Amino acid sequence: MLTHPVFNKRLMARSSVLVTCALAALFLVQCSDGGGSAIFVMEPLPYSLDALAPTISADTMGFHYDKHYAGYVKKANELTKGKGFAGKTAEALIQATAGDASKAAVFNNAAQAWNHAYFFKCLKPDGGSAPEGLLAEMIDAAFGGFVEFKALFITAAKDQFGSGWVWLVLDEGKLAVVTSANADTPLAHGMIPLFTVDVWEHAYYLDYQNRRVDFVKSVLDNLANWDFVAAQLEKAQPPKV
Ligand SMILES: [Fe+2]
Repeated sequence: MLTHPVFNKRLMARSSVLVTCALAALFLVQCSDGGGSAIFVMEPLPYSLDALAPTISADTMGFHYDKHYAGYVKKANELTKGKGFAGKTAEALIQATAGDASKAAVFNNAAQAWNHAYFFKCLKPDGGSAPEGLLAEMIDAAFGGFVEFKALFITAAKDQFGSGWVWLVLDEGKLAVVTSANADTPLAHGMIPLFTVDVWEHAYYLDYQNRRVDFVKSVLDNLANWDFVAAQLEKAQPPKV
């Protein structure tokens, strides 16, 4: 059956209004928390999935970002929806649920969503050059130099038993290298995260199999975004007047 062109235009206009309304309704459903918005959103990658190769392949990034990270964000929002967390920041929610066994699932997914978003921001293509300015001075003071810091960070990654994270943190005004198991995060322990590398096997196994040290060393040498880290340090420790 042929349709008159004018009718077709009206039909299209009406369809377009219906589609717009349907999308708006879907948006409201997704954002609604019985009065609040979803706490976690997928932060866009600041580079393409293949931009970190060969240190991290596009395959690994695809699984890591689109499957693992997306899964934590989705689950964290499902577990917090309508549970009295509306209005809380992600950081406040993580701190409020840390150590509470009855909220372990919320904490694990929320912390993993936050940890992954932060990890992806710690990387950039053609990174790895030595830090400068205040960050470099504080690394020298805390570890004796950048080379010594990297050696300590790699050893910490090697010694982390099972899944977890290695971090450079600001702890009571001083830099420190710490590790956290599974989803745990320095945010839950009064420390300020500055830099991290994910040492869960899903972060490196496709590219490095069991060679975790090679993965961490290559991230430090080729991808570490010290400009981002320096900016976080400046925010955490404003210059003295
Ligand atoms: Fe991960």
